[in-house]
Amino acid sequence: MSSVNPQQRVLSGMRPTGRLHLGHYHGVLKNWVALQRAYECFFFVADWHALTTHYDEPGSLEDHVFDMVVDWLAAGVNPSGAKLFIQSQVPEHAELHLLLSMITPLGWLERVPTYKDQQEKLKEKDLATYGFLGYPLLQSADILIYRAGQVPVGADQVAHVEITREVARRFNHMYGREPGFEQLVEAAVKKLGKKPAKVFVDNKRAWQERGDEAARDVARALVQDNGNITLGDKERLLGDLEGGGKIILPEPQALLTPESKMPGLDGQKMSKSYGNSIALREEPAVVQEKVRKMPTDPARVRRTDAGDPARCPVWQLHEVYSGEDVKGWVQQGCRSAGIGCLECKQPVIDAINAELAPVRERAQHFAERPDLVRSILAEGREEARAAAQATLAEVRKAMGLAYR
Ligand code: TRP
Ligand code: SF4
Repeated sequence: MSSVNPQQRVLSGMRPTGRLHLGHYHGVLKNWVALQRAYECFFFVADWHALTTHYDEPGSLEDHVFDMVVDWLAAGVNPSGAKLFIQSQVPEHAELHLLLSMITPLGWLERVPTYKDQQEKLKEKDLATYGFLGYPLLQSADILIYRAGQVPVGADQVAHVEITREVARRFNHMYGREPGFEQLVEAAVKKLGKKPAKVFVDNKRAWQERGDEAARDVARALVQDNGNITLGDKERLLGDLEGGGKIILPEPQALLTPESKMPGLDGQKMSKSYGNSIALREEPAVVQEKVRKMPTDPARVRRTDAGDPARCPVWQLHEVYSGEDVKGWVQQGCRSAGIGCLECKQPVIDAINAELAPVRERAQHFAERPDLVRSILAEGREEARAAAQATLAEVRKAMGLAYR
C-alpha cells in the first residue's frame, strides 16, 4: 500500500444546487482551482447530504448534479488535477458512516449548531429525522474515508470539521491500541535504522516531556520520510508520538474559505434564493440588463443629484472588479454628479462579461458533451473508491470485521 500523507490531501464537497453563480465562483471555486495545483484534491457532489433535507423532491437531483459539475469544470476545476465524483457512487462513505455511528454519542450530534438552526430555518420540512441528525457524521465519513488532512469549507461548516476531529480521536483511542501495541512500536523504532531511531526517541522525549513542538515536527518528519518501514509502522509511530494508539483516522483541519466579497445585485449576500444572483452561464445581454436594473444610492433620484458610493451596491462591485483608476473616477463622478449611474455601471458590466466569457465557453463545451462529463465522474469515482477502500480495510480490521 502506498503511504498517504494527510497533510497533502484536500477534500471538499458541495450539495447539488444546480447552476452556480458568481458568489460560488469568487468564494469557493477559485479557491478549489488554486488548491488543485498544490494538493491531491478530492471534490465531490454531496447528493446524500441533499437528501437529508430534500428527501421529498428527488426528481430534480440528477439535473442539479449535472449542472453543478458542468459549472465546476467551467470554472476551471480540472479533472486531471482533482478527482471529481458523486458521493453516492462511492458506497464506502456509507459503510464508514455506519461504523462511526456505533461510537458517536447522540449528544455530540444534537449539540452541533446547524442541527437546530436548520430545523428552525426550514420549518416547512420535517427535519426530525435520523438522517438529518446524522448529517455531520456523514460529513465526517466523507472526510475520514480519504484520510484528508485539509478541508476547505466556509465558516458555517467549521463545526462539522470539529466533530470530525472528535470522532477520529475517539476512534483512534478505541481501536488504535491493538494488542501488543508497545512491543510493535518498539520493533518499529528499531526498523527506522540505528541513528534515526535515536533521533526519534530523543525528539519524542523532548516533545512529550517539555512540549517542544519543533522536536515533535522533527520526529514526525523523520517517520514520514523514512523508506524502511511499512505504512502500519508509520501509523504506530505517529500515534505513539501523540501519546495515543495507532492513528488509523487522522484528524483533519478546516481550511477556512475567505468569505466571498461578491455581493448580490441588491447588496445582500449573493444567493439564488434571494433572486439577486448572476449565474456563471449568464448571457452577456442578461448580465447587462441585471446590472443596469440594480438599485443605486437612494439619494440619487435625479441625474443631477450627487451620490455616495458607500451607500450603493454598485460600488461593492467596483471593489471586486475595478482598478484604482476606475474607482477614483466613480468616487469623484458620483459625489459631484459628474457621471450618471448607467455610465458608472458600464465598467462593471464589461468586467463581469470579460470574466465570464471563457467560463461560459467551457460550460457550453461540457454541457454539449454529457458523455464526457459522465466519464470524468466515472474516472473520479474509480480513483476515489481505491483510496476509500484502503481506509475501510483498516477500519474493518480495527473493529474486528476482517473475516477470512
Ligand atoms: N455540508 C457541506 C455544505 O453544505 C457539504 C459537504 C458534505 C462537505 N460533505 C463534506 C464539505 C465534506 C466538506 C467536506 O457545504
Ligand atoms: Fe452608485 Fe455609481 Fe450611481 Fe454613485 S454613480 S450611485 S456609485 S451607480
